[in-house]
Amino acid sequence: MNRTLNIETTKQVGQTVRLNGWVHSRRNMGKIVFLDMRDRSALLQVVIVPDELDDSSKELIEGIRPEYVLEIEGIVQERGEKQKNDKLPTGTVELLAKKVAIQNTCETPPFEIDKDSMDVNEELRLKYRYLDLRTERLAENIRNRDKVVSFFRNYMSKNGFIEIETPLLTVSSPEGARDHIVPSRMSQGKFYALPQAPQQYKQLLMVAGYERYFQMARCLRDEDARGDRQLEFTQFDVEMSFVTQEEILQMTEEMFTKMIKELYPDKKMTTPWPRLSYAEAMEKYGTDKPDLRKDKNDPDELAFAWIVDFPLFTKNEDNGQTESMHHMFTMPEEADLDKLDSDPLSVKGQLFDMVCNGYELSSGSIRIHDAELQKKVLEIVGIKGEEAEKKFGHMLEAFKYGAPPHGGIAPGVDRLMMILEGEPSIREVIAFPKNSEGNEPMTGAPSELDQVQLDELGIQIKKKKQ
Ligand code: AMO
Repeated sequence: MNRTLNIETTKQVGQTVRLNGWVHSRRNMGKIVFLDMRDRSALLQVVIVPDELDDSSKELIEGIRPEYVLEIEGIVQERGEKQKNDKLPTGTVELLAKKVAIQNTCETPPFEIDKDSMDVNEELRLKYRYLDLRTERLAENIRNRDKVVSFFRNYMSKNGFIEIETPLLTVSSPEGARDHIVPSRMSQGKFYALPQAPQQYKQLLMVAGYERYFQMARCLRDEDARGDRQLEFTQFDVEMSFVTQEEILQMTEEMFTKMIKELYPDKKMTTPWPRLSYAEAMEKYGTDKPDLRKDKNDPDELAFAWIVDFPLFTKNEDNGQTESMHHMFTMPEEADLDKLDSDPLSVKGQLFDMVCNGYELSSGSIRIHDAELQKKVLEIVGIKGEEAEKKFGHMLEAFKYGAPPHGGIAPGVDRLMMILEGEPSIREVIAFPKNSEGNEPMTGAPSELDQVQLDELGIQIKKKKQ
């Protein structure tokens, strides 16, 4: 007999079926036992009446505990009117068990799987993440994340974009954080940097003529983990050739609006999204990621906005250095080009942020595609001569070979999911997140290397000062 999913039983009243899944909960009512069985599709009530079972099954029933893995054969029956449960998608039916087999047992879990785990100690949740992921809220977050990502993938595909993977072992591509570093075995003393974003590769793909690229891209940044930050996270990374800032904003807004209408129909969202200049946002709200919700207690309100008209540079108050507002590949406003030498801090950039409910969800920009202009911008942020050649020579070189005008955007998938699911932290929407110290309590990462590996890599560990 083929396996039937719990959810399919609602259409199979009277039929004998075989189910596989986990014991979500068990209730004893005298001799009768009710099991809520869980599989990937739904919960289903199974009724165990000893007289209905074959002999070998009868003996097992007493020992069945929550989270045991069972195979059950039985007859699907309609529940009596009073027993129907409209909170369960399978609440109109139940299974009368005929044969039960234990496929695996389960030790008493360190926390209850049939309850929300939000109040459980987070280290414990992360140590047993595979159990936490069984809980209803996390399972829903992870499944909805897949739906959102699939929506974007389909949307991109319908609009002429192709997904291209870019390297993880690469050189530094600064986005304002420290790099994660990987030592090279074959070139001892040299190191790869893990990408903070695929920024340079996506621009090089535009030079390569693909015109419309996207990637669900893993990004790695060595920064202090917080509620809305992880050491590794995912960007929905997009780049287009022959495009204006206005076109990027419109396409993104349309795609997000459609996704939310289709996948989160109960959400309330103001459209079109308001646009505020950077100066206006700072003046009115004192931040460039204002929370524009009318009612901050309404879990269904989504207040998206675009922040535009950013300065291209900002001054680092600590060391007086002129730095890029976003990154050094952003195109200055054409009208301000002649101020680049005389008064760089007054130059506006063709860049923008997408914000929602007080979070920065994305930044994006039109990029520089001219080698001379790129050199000048690098110079202004203090990357000159040999250093510019060494770090960004490949970009300067590529721009000499018919680089098209281009631009793009990269919404953060984790932050988006956190907001859509009304969660307080991105850790609730990532399958295997790190804790706030950057550790993974389940695997013990990061871990020490043994001496053989260190020798192969030519690495000597400095003793920590006592
Ligand atoms: P930016 O650095 O602004 O832009 O990043 C874009 C978006 O990525 C998300 N994000 C993060 N999410 C979780 N944890 C983090 N540590 C983290 N850091 C960033 C945010 C953020 O808005 N290459 C440019 C984009 C472009 O110009 O196309 C970039 O990386 O949601």
